[in-house]
Amino acid sequence: MAYSTFGPVLLINAVLSVLLCQVPAALAAEQGGTTEKEFKAWLDYIRTTESQPHFKEFAHKVKQPSTTIVVDLKGTGNFTSIQKAIDSVPFANANPVYIIVKPGVYWEKLQIPATKDFITLQGHGRLKTFVVWNDTAASVNSTYLSASIAVDAQYFAAMNISFQNAVPAPAPGVEGQQGVALRISGDNAVFYGCAFIGHQGTLYDQQGKHYFRDCYIEGSIDFIFGDGRSLYQGCEIHVVPVAGSITAQSRSSATSDSGFVFLNCTISGTGVVYLGRAWGRYSRVVFLYTYMESIIRPEGWQNWGDPTRESTVYYGQYMCYGPGAGTDGRTPWSHALTDEEAKPFLTLDFIQGQSWVPLVIPGLRL
Ligand SMILES: *[C@@H]1O[C@H](CO)[C@@H](O)[C@H](O)[C@H]1NC(C)=O
Ligand SMILES: *[C@@H]1O[C@H](CO)[C@@H](O)[C@H](O)[C@H]1NC(C)=O
Ligand SMILES: *[C@@H]1O[C@H](CO)[C@@H](O)[C@H](O)[C@H]1NC(C)=O
Ligand SMILES: *[C@@H]1O[C@H](CO)[C@@H](O)[C@H](O)[C@H]1NC(C)=O
Ligand SMILES: *[C@@H]1O[C@H](CO)[C@@H](O)[C@H](O)[C@H]1NC(C)=O
Repeated sequence: MAYSTFGPVLLINAVLSVLLCQVPAALAAEQGGTTEKEFKAWLDYIRTTESQPHFKEFAHKVKQPSTTIVVDLKGTGNFTSIQKAIDSVPFANANPVYIIVKPGVYWEKLQIPATKDFITLQGHGRLKTFVVWNDTAASVNSTYLSASIAVDAQYFAAMNISFQNAVPAPAPGVEGQQGVALRISGDNAVFYGCAFIGHQGTLYDQQGKHYFRDCYIEGSIDFIFGDGRSLYQGCEIHVVPVAGSITAQSRSSATSDSGFVFLNCTISGTGVVYLGRAWGRYSRVVFLYTYMESIIRPEGWQNWGDPTRESTVYYGQYMCYGPGAGTDGRTPWSHALTDEEAKPFLTLDFIQGQSWVPLVIPGLRL
């Protein structure tokens, strides 16, 4: 686990935070969204769940009081910038920080470093609170750096907020137009009721275990990509022109446990798309109980121009429905999963989520 590396840093931080006299900040009324009461209930919950395997790791960091920070463009909160709120969180943060973001369009590029675990970003609804930036792979020399928000911390949560990369749709033949809205590279992250909006490369699910619940994801080419091990449940996937492929999962070895699972999602939009392309030789993606509009290419999956990948990828679907879901024309190297084969993908177990998702967002109906 990554944070054992931070052991000594945490000790230093404990001393520092005593010296700096951290503000516990019970902001009583006026904060919208999840209340302080609910947040305290979370703390109570995780304090009484000591038997959970992840709890001990988590709990030793939750001994200090929680902090609530309000961000409001109009100036009624602690900050008018979300990044300033993140910057105010102490280095090697060891207690939960709850950043409430009032409605508005926040034009800023956000970064949550690996030293700032336990941050929850809470908007006022994904149609009200937006984080927007517009870097592209070409403008910053890398897809990785193009993200409007980049998260390297562990136990990150975002609720009811939109993340957008506002770069326009790539013109045909123009290179370097990948524009990431969110890059998530920290382990144990939960996204609930969020939106991810962009074109090419919207959601860089780079590494770690992640749970996306009731989210909206919009893009055109390889717009859910990376080596994450993630469960997307109840999400709305919306395809915009010029469409290419929904996923580009990059699992690179037979022993890696990464992969994308889409459960009870919907796929709609404009164009003709693949369900996935084999960015990694052992790319793994499955769709279950998912509605598919008639925008899916009959063959479903693409080998990234390398036929040898056809024997090493794992692509499949189970109980999907709608005009795009028919399996008759699918590539012979993809799977129509049996009940038995589908089982590992039908629950939070795929991401070992029973033990940590309730710690990150308490009260989330699973
Ligand atoms: C999230 O946003 C929805 C829609 O605006 C609202 O109904 C819900 O109460 C919000 N949830 C939280 C936890 O703020
Ligand atoms: C945020 O502002 C409120 C009201 O001014 C204040 O009571 C609280 O301590 C501030 N919290 C932080 C974390 O600065
Ligand atoms: C982002 O938007 C700004 C303001 O409209 C513009 O000046 C800039 O060129 C845009 N960046 C990219 C990479 O498109
Ligand atoms: C991108 O790379 C070029 C050439 O190496 C360099 O001149 C430029 O400063 C780089 N831009 C950024 C944003 O790093
Ligand atoms: C599937 O998702 C819809 C909303 O997207 C939700 O209403 C329904 O309860 C979900 N069903 C299951 C079995 O998860």
